[in-house]
Amino acid sequence: MGRMQGKACVVTGGARGIGEGIVRRYVDEGARCVIADIDVEAGEKIASELGDAAIFVRCDVTSEADITSAIETCRASFGSLDVMINNAGVVGVQGPIGDTSLADYERTMAILLTSVFLGTKLALPIMKEQGDGVIINTSSTAGVQGGLGPHVYTTAKHGVIGLSKSVAVEAAPHGVRVNVICPGATLSSLTAGLVAGDKDNLDAAYERLSSKYPGGKAPRPEDMANAAVWLGSDEGRFMNGAVIVMDLGKEVLSDRAAKFYPID
Ligand SMILES: NC(=O)c1ccc[n+]([C@@H]2O[C@H](COP(=O)([O-])OP(=O)(O)OC[C@H]3O[C@@H](n4cnc5c(N)ncnc54)[C@H](O)[C@@H]3O)[C@@H](O)[C@H]2O)c1
Repeated sequence: MGRMQGKACVVTGGARGIGEGIVRRYVDEGARCVIADIDVEAGEKIASELGDAAIFVRCDVTSEADITSAIETCRASFGSLDVMINNAGVVGVQGPIGDTSLADYERTMAILLTSVFLGTKLALPIMKEQGDGVIINTSSTAGVQGGLGPHVYTTAKHGVIGLSKSVAVEAAPHGVRVNVICPGATLSSLTAGLVAGDKDNLDAAYERLSSKYPGGKAPRPEDMANAAVWLGSDEGRFMNGAVIVMDLGKEVLSDRAAKFYPID
């Protein structure tokens, strides 16, 4: 029996990086997953590799209709919605606040924070009705401290934590839990684009990211997926409103917290 045996899950941003890591690990542990992403090619490839345990749904997380359809696909195909992972993300607009346009601010907030509001808003009533369920939202070390990401990214990631803690209080009496994972700089397409200038150059990115970690090894998506298994399974049944920072103490605990790394 896997640790996620029989659970029906939606993973936004599941076609690459941390989301892909969670999908693969969840399926290994007996779950079935809807991969909800805008990257059709990558999403369909993973779904076909995983066979009956995964379905790809094209989903733009800024669209309420798209998230609804990902959730409905999960319920229709797998019978319930046990775990909702609101994880899709981008770096978004960068640069000094004075140069940040309102349109860029709003677009970045839509992908990083409105999406989590929508995923949580749409999942919770279903889970309340079931009397059971887990929502896991991906924030960042930039969600608990300034200086680790661009301004709007940092704003949105702090918002993900506030929203999750607030909804955790509403959810608990109904048997539903809401928790947050805050990755430190983790190997993914997103970080490869930032540190290696090419989202597919994972080897160069791993080397560059690792050089900044004590012990010389950067986290990989599987490391974040370990936390998602524990939180999403019944082993995490007392975890609610929790914010789990996973950076080896490098950014958030360090007295020499790294500045947003591409600006170094
Ligand atoms: N990798 C890190 O170092 C790191 C650190 C902290 C937080 N995070 C967060 O982890 C999450 C996953 O990031 P990652 O590093 O795996 O990035 P990634 O680029 O490897 O994967 C992100 C996925 O989200 C999808 N996506 C982007 N915009 C979307 C949209 N509008 N609708 C649906 N899907 C969309 C992409 O297609 C991609 O598959 C993000 O929320 C990110 O902010 C990452």
